[in-house]
Amino acid sequence: MAETLIIHGNSKEELYQNLLPQIKSIIEDEEDMIANMANISACLYETFRFWWVGFYRVAGNELVLGPFQGPIACTRIRNGRGVCGTSWQRAETVIVPDVEQFPGHIACSSASRSEIVVPVLHKGEVIAVLDIDSDMLDTFDDTDRLWLERIAALLADIT
Ligand code: SME
Repeated sequence: MAETLIIHGNSKEELYQNLLPQIKSIIEDEEDMIANMANISACLYETFRFWWVGFYRVAGNELVLGPFQGPIACTRIRNGRGVCGTSWQRAETVIVPDVEQFPGHIACSSASRSEIVVPVLHKGEVIAVLDIDSDMLDTFDDTDRLWLERIAALLADIT
């Protein structure tokens, strides 16, 4: 496993393009999902300097906080609640350009302005969600969706 992340690219697309194979090589020999979630969070945080990057894992009828980078966060979210619980319920990515316009948004941090939540699907079941918060409005678009879904698929395949 490489010890240093190489952050390279002139656009978001290029940054993701260069990041994906590095994430693959970092997680492919490790079967522990928590360890892999921790390194994926660190890779995304270091590359994009998002406000908060982390995972919530499905545990019964709740999501429970997993590995993350950034300020402290809410520990449990019920199915259908907030952006995370909505992504879990729908089993699809949710992009929120302005968290104040999302009914039921859970404000773990008042600095968060926009958000993307991507489900981690294993054999058709949501086993976790990848949640990213930005302290700026309208940070996430279909480029983030595409690449973050690829990263989530990598995690689900390997672990
Ligand atoms: N905002 C999320 C809660 C998790 S924090 O952003 C880390 C939500 O509405 O589900």
